[in-house]
Amino acid sequence: MFIGIDLGTSAVKLLLMDGEGGILKIVSRSYPVSYPRPGWSEQDPEDWLRETVAGIIELTAGFDKSQIKGIGVGGQMHGLVALDKDGRVLRPAILWNDGRTAEETEYLNAEVGKGKLSKLTANIAFAGFTAPKLLWMKKHEPELFKRIDKIMLPKDYLNYMLSGVHCSDYSDASGTLLLDVEHKCWSREMMEICGVKESWLPRLYESYETVGTLKAEIAEKLGLRQDVKIAAGAGDNAAAAVGTATVGDGRCNISLGTSGTIFISSEKFSVDSNNALHAFAHADGNYHLMGVMLSAASCLKWWMEEIMSTVKYEEEQSSIIRRRLGQNGIYFMPYLMGERSPYNDSSARGAFVGLSMDSTRADMTQAVLEGVAFGLRDSLEVARGLGLEIQSSKVCGGGARSGIWKEIISNVLNLELQSVVTEEGPGYGGAILAAVACGEFPSVAEACGKLVKVSSAVKPDPEIAARYESRYRVFKSLYPAMKPIFKTL
Ligand code: XUL
Repeated sequence: MFIGIDLGTSAVKLLLMDGEGGILKIVSRSYPVSYPRPGWSEQDPEDWLRETVAGIIELTAGFDKSQIKGIGVGGQMHGLVALDKDGRVLRPAILWNDGRTAEETEYLNAEVGKGKLSKLTANIAFAGFTAPKLLWMKKHEPELFKRIDKIMLPKDYLNYMLSGVHCSDYSDASGTLLLDVEHKCWSREMMEICGVKESWLPRLYESYETVGTLKAEIAEKLGLRQDVKIAAGAGDNAAAAVGTATVGDGRCNISLGTSGTIFISSEKFSVDSNNALHAFAHADGNYHLMGVMLSAASCLKWWMEEIMSTVKYEEEQSSIIRRRLGQNGIYFMPYLMGERSPYNDSSARGAFVGLSMDSTRADMTQAVLEGVAFGLRDSLEVARGLGLEIQSSKVCGGGARSGIWKEIISNVLNLELQSVVTEEGPGYGGAILAAVACGEFPSVAEACGKLVKVSSAVKPDPEIAARYESRYRVFKSLYPAMKPIFKTL
């Protein structure tokens, strides 16, 4: 058996997979996110560890623990975890959707220059990436910055605490802006630009390689064998892509989690000349392009739970019937935490546009679902502009449990959307990476081919897709109109 862990933003989700890819048990444990100022977001790494350890104990209870061979983690990307020389966490982790680094991002893109960054790392700076966070810490918390002994990404903190090995994998390291993605090594020039010492950085592995085994005291606490292998794991999007068999060349996966991503796998390294999409390494040993929305399922969660004070998601969506698709006069701009792709604007904010006296609660809920779909379409347009022909995509993440949302997205993107039997994207990907690390399969691609099965598909309807086509044109004109206003808010 293998343990797959999805270290998410709202919770850690753990699953136990057998050698045939069957899911034996799933456990989820949540922890808080703090928003100390508008647009900032932080989490305590010790919360991740405590809930993961408790989660593993809960997950494995009642099973023959001696049969557990490996653990693989897919984790929220870009977060900065900094430890001092005694291994203590120096400050709360600054997360992937934190927008405090507008100044540092501007410095990197304008003064160091987008061309140079892209040449060194295959990417430009986005507020959520790790390098701008380090520059922010250097400027605003110089005393803490001086005490840094190690830096790592969220899932690498878990791997470090479980195995004692300071490691990362290429997919997650791609999002630091410190990695030379094409050549898969840390960039010396980026280290200099950010004041980072080489000794602070983790050793790099392919996602499906073993980094070590459980530390004795952790093995004892968990009741697992000490020789349980820890795979390097992956950033959550790359892990989710493995979990939906989005590996090899030209395949697509859409993830509807707290963030919304559109992930295109590629056997060859390539960069979008405007850097609107991220060019990262993939967990199968290859590469990928990715568009990222900072708020996707989190827009719906905010609308339902914070604004409408309900958790009855199905009931609220039940009046959004097929006939109404593409007919809504209300638009929702889904930029509650700023936006990454394609605008790279941490000052962008959410908005409803087009409200009238006869607007209903259902129209507004539908607008939220559609706003996220239009945001994904923005990234798909960039990919299509690069000549990538995408006819279908897998879909995963909590938002994919909504049938009507999948239908909206399929029509807005004009893509067939396929769901897989095991919808636990990053966790399932993590377990598959662990199985490959343990030698059960010769490669990630072979493991995916054997384990991942399509369960259902949603196809676009030409009439609805045409209606959405004209609505998308309106949506596209909203951000440029609002951009100067966002800057003044
Ligand atoms: C990807 C990104 C998000 C997080 C969410 O670049 O920032 O998808 O990984 O956990």
